[in-house]
Amino acid sequence: MKAAIIYPGVGTPEYKDAPEPKAQNENEILVTVKAVAVKQLDKSIASGKHYTSDAKREAGQIPGGDGICLLPDGTRVYGMGIGGMMAEKAVIHKNRIVQLPSTLDDATAAALPNAVVGAAMGLKLKANIKPGDVVLINGATGVTGRVAVQLAKYYGAQKVIATGRNQHSLAELKSLGADQTIAITGEDEPFVKQLQDIHQATPISIVIDYLWGHTAELIFSVLKGKEMFTNPISYISVGSMAGDTIQMSSAVLRSVDLKLMGSGIGSWPQEHMRRIFTEILPEALQLAADGKLKLETVTGKLADIADLWKQQVAVGKRLVIEPLSNVSLL
Ligand SMILES: NC(=O)c1ccc[n+]([C@@H]2O[C@H](COP(=O)([O-])OP(=O)(O)OC[C@H]3O[C@@H](n4cnc5c(N)ncnc54)[C@H](OP(=O)(O)O)[C@@H]3O)[C@@H](O)[C@H]2O)c1
Repeated sequence: MKAAIIYPGVGTPEYKDAPEPKAQNENEILVTVKAVAVKQLDKSIASGKHYTSDAKREAGQIPGGDGICLLPDGTRVYGMGIGGMMAEKAVIHKNRIVQLPSTLDDATAAALPNAVVGAAMGLKLKANIKPGDVVLINGATGVTGRVAVQLAKYYGAQKVIATGRNQHSLAELKSLGADQTIAITGEDEPFVKQLQDIHQATPISIVIDYLWGHTAELIFSVLKGKEMFTNPISYISVGSMAGDTIQMSSAVLRSVDLKLMGSGIGSWPQEHMRRIFTEILPEALQLAADGKLKLETVTGKLADIADLWKQQVAVGKRLVIEPLSNVSLL
């Protein structure tokens, strides 16, 4: 079969022949792959920088942890690969699949799950979002942030505040449901002042953070309490686009009713993992099929993977590789 294969120390995958994978036990199944999204997670794992990255695999590895595929009986499902899925064939976990609404296209269905997990697990299962919550989404201009804005509203948030450094994307976020936006300009004072004013008028109860780094430090400085009583706040770190470490003042933790958590691979108990496949993804995929959850994609063919991997996709759009497609983006 044809596959994308990435070797240690090489930045981009190659389009090559690879042996067809085999299911190793009754919990695994060989599928035909239709669409695989190229996400921050895949790039980070492939580069060896992600915290789940395996030891260097000299023989190379196939990227793409999940995708849309056809089961042997022809049923189209979303599945999670045992190995990589950016290939014509892959082996997936038999019990980690989601049936797809028939009206949802392959590319959108492939692009949504990682973003939905990155949004919904934090909002719903970590922060227990409820109607009336005021949600701050730090770094909302990417694909996952855009999904988080929409899902926060769908789950009943009274107000969604979105931050980002791209002015055009911030304007688009308003049409997706953000009530207020704050530009990250590199200047601390205006960012802090705007956030303070919002927090004073409508206390923030949930923060979903895709950036971490310095903006997280600024947010904590705003959340720091000064009086006897503070409203409960759940702060969920989901990504670290702006840096992996911050300076955290003990006073912040002592002065506010703060729950600081992360949401990512390794942080979800079995029950939450189960709910991804039985509740979170089926609901979100149906919302997308009904036109109520929006995500933009660009598609490309597997043979072009080396060039596509390096290509800068327009902000807020997800690149999806379709192994059976012959349509070239290039
Ligand atoms: N834990 C999970 O379950 C989970 C799931 C999905 C995603 N994530 C993580 O969440 C993060 C975002 O993912 P994504 O899918 O939204 O990625 P994406 O679509 O590639 O977008 C990345 C966004 O980050 C912004 N950005 C990068 N550096 C920035 C900085 N220094 N300051 C402000 N904005 C910055 C970019 O904005 P510009 O347009 O200004 O460049 C872009 O909008 C990643 O770290 C990803 O790994 C985690």
